[in-house]
Amino acid sequence: MAVTRLPASAAGIGRAGAALAAGELVAFPTETVYGLGADGTNPRAVANIYLVKGRPPDNPLILHVVDAAAAQEVARVWPDDARRLADRLWPGPLTLVVPARPTVPRVVRGGLDTVAVRCPSHPLARRLLAAAGLPVAAPSANRSGQPSPTTADAVARALGGADVPDVGVWLVDGGPSPIGVESTVVDVSRARPVLLRPGGLSREAIEQVVGPLDSPGAGEPARSPGMRYRHYAPDRPLVLLAMDPEAAVQALRQRPAAQTGLLAERRVVEALDWPAAVSLGDSPSDAAAVLFEGLLTLDRWPGLDRLVAVWNNREGVGWAVMNRLERAAAEVMRA
Ligand code: TXA
Ligand code: MG
Repeated sequence: MAVTRLPASAAGIGRAGAALAAGELVAFPTETVYGLGADGTNPRAVANIYLVKGRPPDNPLILHVVDAAAAQEVARVWPDDARRLADRLWPGPLTLVVPARPTVPRVVRGGLDTVAVRCPSHPLARRLLAAAGLPVAAPSANRSGQPSPTTADAVARALGGADVPDVGVWLVDGGPSPIGVESTVVDVSRARPVLLRPGGLSREAIEQVVGPLDSPGAGEPARSPGMRYRHYAPDRPLVLLAMDPEAAVQALRQRPAAQTGLLAERRVVEALDWPAAVSLGDSPSDAAAVLFEGLLTLDRWPGLDRLVAVWNNREGVGWAVMNRLERAAAEVMRA
């Protein structure tokens, strides 16, 4: 599939906005990860997203909007919790699931009667949404099941190989996405708000606005279709050591380092003499920012046949890092 880069200039953004309005696909940076966007009012354009990603048709998409007023144009009702959260936390890495207007194409909603809406804070995403003048349906710009891309190069590598000769993608290069994990998804369509996916905005920040969040009930997988699927997985099998740094260093000293790629906090990497290692830095926000790029880098590293990640911190955005690694891992070892 052809991927054509556009600069993050006024001309580039103008070209990308016109392409969206014409029903074409545009990959663009957001503060969380890169998205693969299409006109969210055009079912044929949106269908191409599923084709390019190889995404299951029952996994709905997020509509990206420029502000809360634009979100209300796709929502059948705008619940009080949506109003409070949008007032306080938009633009930012928070997606709200609300009742959908029947005019929202079924292909966007994955057949549900709700729709997910998010108002991104990344300046290029905001300029693109303004230029397009449309709600933009956009999942992360990876092939389904793989780690999400946080750079334009990662998007080009992920989508360039897709075997979809009739569809092209424009790619706005805006540098690395600063947060590095996807938005937090909260369902506000029912009586009590439910946290469907941990992400770039901490649970605490949301609970300060609307009080305690529920978790999805057991046996309610349809409330969060995306959480059903294996996701974020590199090609090489990943083992997650869900243990503290000291315990992980002990465990890793017993293992052969050859052919194994390591993704861990800086202090773990520095305590070991590991030939193929990527540092997750010193804090949960550092780790979120490097996580997907680190997995993709190790997955391309010559001569490796397996990966090991060390993480055991659910504070703030650390919860989202833990969630992504647990879902990416073929095996989780706990201390
Ligand atoms: O940060 C993000 O959210 C990125 C950037 C590009 O904005 N987008 C993203 O999209 O992560 P995607 O498609 O990879 O993940 C969307 C998640 C999935 O878990 C999906 O199941 C859920 O949102 N979702 C979408 N619509 C929903 C709905 N109506 N009800 C429940 N969950 C929904
Ligand atoms: Mg995704």
